[in-house]
Amino acid sequence: MPAKSTPRAAAPVRAAEFRRRLLRWFRGHGRDLPWRRTRDPYHVLVAEFMLQQTQVSRVEAYYHRFLERYPTLQALARAESGMVREAWSGLGYYRRADHLHRLARVVLEDHGGTIPSEPEHLVRLPGVGRYTAGAVASFAYERATPAIDTNVARVIRRAFHPRLGARATERRLWATGAALVRGRDGPAAWAFNQAIMELGALVCTARVARCGECPVRTACATGSKRAGVTLSAAKGP
Ligand code: ADE
Repeated sequence: MPAKSTPRAAAPVRAAEFRRRLLRWFRGHGRDLPWRRTRDPYHVLVAEFMLQQTQVSRVEAYYHRFLERYPTLQALARAESGMVREAWSGLGYYRRADHLHRLARVVLEDHGGTIPSEPEHLVRLPGVGRYTAGAVASFAYERATPAIDTNVARVIRRAFHPRLGARATERRLWATGAALVRGRDGPAAWAFNQAIMELGALVCTARVARCGECPVRTACATGSKRAGVTLSAAKGP
């Protein structure tokens, strides 16, 4: 039995197959999104702040507009806050714009203008939670660190912890997420985190788990037992 302080993670054999199948699917089906064409940490950060509460389809236009106005962290740090809010207008949740603006100033003053690459440092910045810290570390710096948002949590829960369902704790989900990327610094870490997010957005959605068309079905504890089930978002897993 593992110690209580180390939640049990994914079974290694199933994890390896899950990763392999997921990455193959992503290479053929992943969407060509603008923030997937860059490793610029500032651009990745802007995208992740926008995506915190807004859907991908809406973010694309705002992402380009904001970066035209503020192409660098330095340009954003110099801006007046009313102007930053104006560049954010239409996206809503303006606290995100305020946080991003403050973050630019903190990074300039405390980090010499370089956005940190370690999740433990990122998470101390304004507006950066555990998910965003993991996303920037892996999407900008290709660090082998998990980035678990609502979509990813759902995929991990269904694939690896179906019996726990909604009772799977955050610690457990992050432990499994960490086990899935561990030791894979580099493009593989970037691709894995993008791919699992994409699966949650396109196939393993909250309302419907399209197990019948899922590329990781054979490596998934839920999918290997069912085909094309409709799951209620309220009940999980
Ligand atoms: N939601 C949050 N981050 C995302 C990303 N990098 N790609 C697609 N959807 C996302």
